[in-house]
Amino acid sequence: MNENEQKEKVYFLKGKNVNLRHLNEDDVPVMTHWLNDSEVTQYITINHPMTLEQELEYLKANIGRQDKILLGIETLDGVYIGNISIDKINHVDRTATTGIIIGNKEYWGKGHGTEAKMLLLNYAFNTLNIRKIHSSAISFNERSVKYQKKTGAVVEGVLKDQIYKNGKYYDQIMLSIFKEDWLPIWDKFQKEVLT
Ligand SMILES: CC(C)(COP(=O)(O)OP(=O)(O)OC[C@H]1O[C@@H](n2cnc3c(N)ncnc32)[C@H](O)[C@@H]1OP(=O)(O)O)[C@@H](O)C(=O)NCCC(=O)NCCS
Repeated sequence: MNENEQKEKVYFLKGKNVNLRHLNEDDVPVMTHWLNDSEVTQYITINHPMTLEQELEYLKANIGRQDKILLGIETLDGVYIGNISIDKINHVDRTATTGIIIGNKEYWGKGHGTEAKMLLLNYAFNTLNIRKIHSSAISFNERSVKYQKKTGAVVEGVLKDQIYKNGKYYDQIMLSIFKEDWLPIWDKFQKEVLT
């Protein structure tokens, strides 16, 4: 195992089918590929071409921040499939937002997004002492709304005609999860998926 491989095997949060780990410079080419793939970016608010340099800058600027945690999602056999983050951590209100992108399309719909999010929520609620987590999805992203609801999120509101994609304005679905509502879902998830 070389030095880079050893670095990648340090996992921050361990699951049954995915692990979450710190990102490093070696991940930048793969991330850049995802963020120029219109099948992926149709679901997020990135509309400009992204360069390797921009992604590297983004990574450097976002690692080690107090108000953000950015992690890579890796399958148990070591395939780097996406990123997940906790953003806008606010220790007064005890709130945060989350974002996710599984950029490797072969891994959509296999439960990995749900597992990654549950691991991250456990960290957010039980380590960072956050009490409420926000997230959102463009209205046509039914898979995202469904996966978020599986992790306990409920629709809190809708921003009408908020996001412009493919020549049309779409609603933005705003979701949230309170820790107390999530705890029983976490208990069940641990028994049914993580053990
Ligand atoms: C959204 C995303 C994170 C979900 O992760 P995932 O691993 O694909 O989702 P999961 O498999 O954990 O759960 C998806 C659920 O939606 C269902 N689903 C899958 N494809 C669907 C579709 N096209 N429409 C509706 N539901 C769908 C699945 O059946 C599953 O529900 P089930 O377990 O009850 O059967 C991932 O697909 C992704 O990153 N997509 C591209 C970028 C993106 O949309 N990011 C989020 C922006 S808000």
